[in-house]
Amino acid sequence: MAKDKNIFTEKLDLGYCEDMQEVSVDEFEKILHNRRSVRVFKDKILPEEIVKKALEHGFLAPNSSNLQPWKFIWVRNKEVKTELAKNCFSQNGAKTASDLIVCIARTNTWKENSKKMLDAFKDAGEEPPKVVESYYKKIVPAAYGLIGPFGILSPIKWLFLNTLGLFQVMAREPIWPSQLKTWAVKSTALACENIMLSFSAQGVDSLPMEGYDSKRVKKMFGLKGHDHIVMIIGAGYRADNGVYGPRVRFDSDNFIQEIK
Ligand SMILES: Cc1cc2nc3c(=O)[nH]c(=O)nc-3n(C[C@H](O)[C@H](O)[C@H](O)COP(=O)(O)O)c2cc1C
Repeated sequence: MAKDKNIFTEKLDLGYCEDMQEVSVDEFEKILHNRRSVRVFKDKILPEEIVKKALEHGFLAPNSSNLQPWKFIWVRNKEVKTELAKNCFSQNGAKTASDLIVCIARTNTWKENSKKMLDAFKDAGEEPPKVVESYYKKIVPAAYGLIGPFGILSPIKWLFLNTLGLFQVMAREPIWPSQLKTWAVKSTALACENIMLSFSAQGVDSLPMEGYDSKRVKKMFGLKGHDHIVMIIGAGYRADNGVYGPRVRFDSDNFIQEIK
């Protein structure tokens, strides 16, 4: 990375202080344990406010460069829901859900959202610090841009970054369109988890689904190449037989590599 002062190396003192609120870890654990993938929902419509709140909680997810590369299509309409459920392989979880949320990662909004980030400072009556301005005006376009349509510029970007990377610590991704997709999907998936945990905290159930025909779903909502469906979330109240069995997780030792 550049050796001069930048957003990573500069310690910003903006005179702002935010204390942590007290929370109960027991309550948090209840929320985690309450969230189960529910495959059959009761025939009962969710209050709109609950879904709105869950979506708002989704937006609080951490996300790359605060560029919020997501979009959520909230489907309540009966006919649209029926067609969407059919495109989710007619899974019971989709067919019986009160609401369906199509969660989309977008790779074409980083430019306008960079501008919004700088505007947020101006709206608060402040000038963005130099390193922040430089981040959104120079680093972000270099990091998430220079790929071109269908990755036409990617080989040049690859050669440039990998040559420079021989001599210094270097950002290696995103270079190819698939890596830009991964970039947007990571942040959107975090928002999805927030949404499902919010449902859980509100006493509501959910089901994340990747069992869908992406082409047909994209056509339904006029989604384009830069829109990537991350998952479709079904929400509602669990039917008595809605959870198929106790939760199964492999031993933690399988997943933790501790460096001592
Ligand atoms: C990205 C993703 C896609 C999933 N797709 C489906 C799906 O299409 N249908 C389904 O019944 N469950 C689906 N699941 C649910 C998983 O099977 C479930 O999370 C897993 O079995 C663990 O169970 P739990 O969520 O109750 O802890 C999906 C989960 C995730 C995270």
